[in-house]
Amino acid sequence: MSVHENEAHGMPYRLLSCCMDQFVYRDSVLFGEGVNLATVADAVGTPCYVYSRATLEDHADKLAGAFGGLNPLICFAVKCCPNVHVLRALVGRGLGMDVVSGGELYRARLAGAPGDRIVFAGVGKSDQELREALGAWTPTAEQIAQARAMGVGPEALVEPIGCFNIESEQEYEVLAGVARAAGKTCRAAIRVNPKVKAGGHAHITTATEESKFGVMPEQALAMFKRFGGESTVRLTGLHMHIGSSILDPGPYVEAVKRLLELADAAMAAGARLSTLDIGGGFGADYSTGDAAPAAEFASALTPLLEPYVKRGIRVVLEPGRTIAANAGVLLTRVLYTKVNGRKKFVVVDAGMNTLIRPSLYEAFHFAWPVSVAPQHEPVRRTASPELPGLEVCDLVGPVCESGDFLARDRMLPPLVRGDLVAVYAAGAYGMAMASRYNSRNLPAEVMVSGDTFEVIRRGERDEDQLAHEVASR
Ligand code: LLP
Repeated sequence: MSVHENEAHGMPYRLLSCCMDQFVYRDSVLFGEGVNLATVADAVGTPCYVYSRATLEDHADKLAGAFGGLNPLICFAVKCCPNVHVLRALVGRGLGMDVVSGGELYRARLAGAPGDRIVFAGVGKSDQELREALGAWTPTAEQIAQARAMGVGPEALVEPIGCFNIESEQEYEVLAGVARAAGKTCRAAIRVNPKVKAGGHAHITTATEESKFGVMPEQALAMFKRFGGESTVRLTGLHMHIGSSILDPGPYVEAVKRLLELADAAMAAGARLSTLDIGGGFGADYSTGDAAPAAEFASALTPLLEPYVKRGIRVVLEPGRTIAANAGVLLTRVLYTKVNGRKKFVVVDAGMNTLIRPSLYEAFHFAWPVSVAPQHEPVRRTASPELPGLEVCDLVGPVCESGDFLARDRMLPPLVRGDLVAVYAAGAYGMAMASRYNSRNLPAEVMVSGDTFEVIRRGERDEDQLAHEVASR
C-alpha cells in the first residue's frame, strides 16, 4: 500500500497500488473519496449505489488523454449508468453521449449534451424515437419544466442529433421516410458486423455470425451504392461495436482493420465518409488488474486510425463500463446469517433485483465489509484474498429465487447481522439493470465528491411503485 495525493481535493488517501478508483480503506473503514461510506448508508439507507465523481472524471480524462492523438469524439454509453447527474459530470468533461432509446436520448439532453455530440444506436428504433432524435417532436410542458430544472432550455430538447447508427437497410428507408415527412435531414453511419468474437460473456458478444446487430460488410457496400447519393439521410460513416468487457486489444485491432478495409472499399466506390465509430467495450477492473489500461488500447489502435484522421475523418468512441464500473459501489447490509447443510449463507438486503450481473452473467463482483479488522484490509480485489481468518460463504439476496446471489463460495471476513458490505465495480450495468422484482423499491443513488456527498436519486418508496397503477383506476 502506498499513500497518494488526491489531486482533485488535495487530501492524502491510502490507495491500493494498482486500484483504479477512489474507494479506499482509511483506518479500516471504506471511504469514497473523503466520505466514510458507513455515514452514507446511515443517511440514505441500504441498498444504495454510490458513485465517485473524481473517479468518473479521472476515467474520462484518462481515456481522452490516451486517445488524444486521434482527437476523437467520446460518447459515453448512457445505458451503463444513466443517472442524469452522472451524465452531467461527464458532459462537463467534454464527453458526448451514445444512446439507444428515446429515454436515453432525453436523459442525454437533460444532462446538457449538445445534439451534435449524440449518436443513436440500436436495432429497434421506433418511428417516434427517430422523430425525437431528428428534433421533429414537441416536448410536453412537464418535459420543458424538467429540462429547465436541469438548467437546459427547451430548444435543446429538439436539437437534431449528430449521427444515427443504423442497423439495417430497412431502417435506412424508414429513417429517410420519417425525416422527409418532417422536413429534416440528418447523417447516418452504417453499423457493420466485422465478424470478430470479443467480449466477456456470450450475452455481451455482438459481432459473431449469429448476432442480430449491424449488417455484413458486403451489405454495407451495397447500401453505400444504393443510398450514397441521397441527401435526406446522408450516409457519412461506419460504425461497429464488437462486444463488451474486452480485456485485451487483440480482437479490437482485428475488427478495426476489417472496418478500415471496408471504409477503403466504400470510399473507392465514391462514399464520402466523415466518421468512423469504433464503439465501446473496453474492460474494467472487476478483480484488481483485470483490464488493459486505456493507453494499451490507444497505442494499438492509434496507428491504424491516424491516417484516416489526417484525411479529415472523425473517430468516435462509445465507452461505458471502463468509465463507470469502477466509479461505483453498491452498499448493502447483512440481514441474516445461517448455515444450511454445509454452507454458510449471508443474506443481505441487495439481490438480483438490485444488481443482476452475478445471476445473469455469473459475473464476479468483489464484495467486502465496509468496516474491517486491520488485518482484513484487502490488498487486492480477488475471489480468494490471502488473509487470515476468512470464512467461505454465499452472499445472497432477499429475492425468492435460488438464482438470487451476489457471490458464491466467497472468502470473506466473518459477517454478522447489521454489517455493511460494499459490492465493487457496480457503477456500470448495476442500477441501470435494477428492477422492482418482488415489488422491491429501486435503491437510492449517491454521488460523493471530495468530503461531501449528495443524493442524486432518492430511494423509491412503496407509494411510488403504486402511483401509476392507482392513477389508472
Ligand atoms: N456501444 C454500443 C453500440 C453498445 O451496444 C454498448 C454496450 C456500448 C457502446 C458500451 O459498451 P461498454 O463500453 O460499456 O462495454 N449488461 C452487460 C453489458 C451489455 C453491453 C451492451 N452494449 C453487462 O452487464 O455486462
